[in-house]
Amino acid sequence: MYSINIIQPDDWHIHLRDENTLKMTVPLAEAAFGRVLAMPNLTPPLTTVQSVLDYRSRILANTRNPHFTPYFALYFNEQLTADTLQEAKTCPWILGVKWYPRGATTHSDWGVEDISQHFEHLALMEELKLPLLIHGEVTDSTVDIFEREPRFIETVLMPLQQRFPKLPIVLEHITTLDAVQWIQNMPAHIAATVTAHHLAFNRNHLLAGGLKPDYYCLPVLKQAAHQYSLQQAVMTSGQTQFFLGTDSAPHTRDKKYNSCGCAGCFTTPVALALLAELFFENQALSLLEAFCSINGARFYQLPLNTQHLRLTQQDWVVPEHYQISGLTFVPLLAGQTLAWQYHIAENVHHE
Ligand code: NCD
Ligand code: ZN
Repeated sequence: MYSINIIQPDDWHIHLRDENTLKMTVPLAEAAFGRVLAMPNLTPPLTTVQSVLDYRSRILANTRNPHFTPYFALYFNEQLTADTLQEAKTCPWILGVKWYPRGATTHSDWGVEDISQHFEHLALMEELKLPLLIHGEVTDSTVDIFEREPRFIETVLMPLQQRFPKLPIVLEHITTLDAVQWIQNMPAHIAATVTAHHLAFNRNHLLAGGLKPDYYCLPVLKQAAHQYSLQQAVMTSGQTQFFLGTDSAPHTRDKKYNSCGCAGCFTTPVALALLAELFFENQALSLLEAFCSINGARFYQLPLNTQHLRLTQQDWVVPEHYQISGLTFVPLLAGQTLAWQYHIAENVHHE
């Protein structure tokens, strides 16, 4: 039975949702991660520093682990002001501003459609070194859904990066070889998050042998060749611009299993187990720590976590569902047996 200790991981892209759902999402997150970057696509979205501080209090009311630290991104919206950006920069809990092109994904209706209308904000963010976090897909309905990320990189991201060369950027939840290659050609202040599910699965898991709504997310799962390019990027040493953001995005069962099902994979309970299995199978377990626990902290200029997590090769069965306040959420891989378990190992020295 194999086991390893790694510096406690962080999740630099998570949807904790709000209100009673926090009673489920926060304990699951803090059982695995030292820090999370909670996304702002709530209803209404987090558009002011005060709204972030209020949300932070609601999250902290549900924590048990005093080490657990949630961070945030503001929602880039049409009403964004220079004052808000300045204030965000001074708030220790805000790490960036998230741009959802309007219509790109769940709760993106308040997003900015045409970023060129807001170049003065990007110029200020570049000056402040306040990262822009991007959902990188074009929203043109005539563009094939599997091509929306490459098209975004080509038509929106490249010109934007050339115009603001010092702006820190995180291209979130990348899914394609095009994204991997673009990041690899960029300097260190440009990085990407990668999810566990985009590493472990491809579009066959979603579509072959029956439509499986639990695997439906945006950006949608891609061909196996793209999946392998992501795997190669994170399982090669020195690729510090790639780090874990699970994009765990729970939706209630009735909203997922629906004739117009919501996008989002609920992965917090399984993400680290999936990653441990994948890295182990590829003889790359020694690179898991950089991807989960080091690269992201370095990018955001935060110290590494002092706690450690023990990963052990031991079977467990993923719960069929989680229930909270009358709501039912089905995790990815519900009912399946996974090969790795984890628990926080306090005061364990790094091996
Ligand atoms: C996310 C959600 O449900 O909030 N959905 C998803 O498919 N990933 C939004 C997002 O990050 O795109
Ligand atoms: Zn997300």
